[in-house]
Amino acid sequence: MGPVHEGRIIATRADSTYGDQAIRWEVSHECPIVSATVSFKRHPLVKSAQKVQKRFRKRVQKSAAGSQKKFRRWARATLEAGYYRYNLWRWYWQGKLTLRRSDATFNVYLREQLKETLLKRRLFDRARGDVVPLIDMLASKYDFTNQSILCVGCRNDTEIRYFRSRGAGHVVGIDLYQAGADIVIMDMHDLKFGDSTVDVVYSRHSFEHSYDTRKAALEFVRVVKPGGVVVVEVPGKHQGGGDYNYFTCLEDVLEPFTPHVGEFLWKEYSLKEENTFGFDIIRLMFRVNK
Ligand SMILES: C[S@@+](CC[C@H](N)C(=O)[O-])C[C@H]1O[C@@H](n2cnc3c(N)ncnc32)[C@H](O)[C@@H]1O
Repeated sequence: MGPVHEGRIIATRADSTYGDQAIRWEVSHECPIVSATVSFKRHPLVKSAQKVQKRFRKRVQKSAAGSQKKFRRWARATLEAGYYRYNLWRWYWQGKLTLRRSDATFNVYLREQLKETLLKRRLFDRARGDVVPLIDMLASKYDFTNQSILCVGCRNDTEIRYFRSRGAGHVVGIDLYQAGADIVIMDMHDLKFGDSTVDVVYSRHSFEHSYDTRKAALEFVRVVKPGGVVVVEVPGKHQGGGDYNYFTCLEDVLEPFTPHVGEFLWKEYSLKEENTFGFDIIRLMFRVNK
């Protein structure tokens, strides 16, 4: 196992592994700055504060040791957080924070994904009608009544609620942050579900965010029951913010699932002139061979 990159703040946390890297991230729902990966030098002020602390340690221990300790921790955390933010800006202006797709490591990828999704969070937090048609399409081809559904990269609970309203049984969503009780923080390359445990893996506009499509696809296949269904919708010939992959045709999306692609329930390349997205759309629903 390689280095563990630790994040900073607070509301939710999750662990993930990729190859020899491990990442632990913690995200404040309120703070769009994701502090998962970058290490930084200790600020000189922190150093001198530590010297002062050393000098006065005995006195501090004698009098009100507990509250002094708390204050010390708070002061140090505040200084470090400020310096961290200052560094973020500095690196940003120096162009060091740009994601280079060719050599980005997994932790940089996760940080970018989190940053991207948290920035868009307010825009997309409301229930959205555009997630509905794909679920309707699935319902017209496959009866998922009382079945278990995994929504990968669901962002909020819109998909989950709509699946339930259409009679699905157990529905759970995963994403890199938690916007509701039914959503579990999990990385699509490292699903924590057992083998053959869900009937449908549903990934609408999240597979294109995958760091390693082969690894994510094999995870989808692993958790889905034999004969279960994988649903994937991604943009075609289009790369939006946070999109990590560029798919030009149906085969590009199917290739990572080889040789587990069984009977097709739906297979579509919709040109931008034919849809309302403003770019091409690739839709695939197939049973899994395993
Ligand atoms: C474009 S949004 C799609 C949201 C929703 N499925 C929809 O159709 O509106 C992509 C989501 O995938 C999530 N995501 C990106 N990388 C991920 C990963 N490695 N594991 C799990 N979720 C991821 C992002 O956080 C984001 O919420």
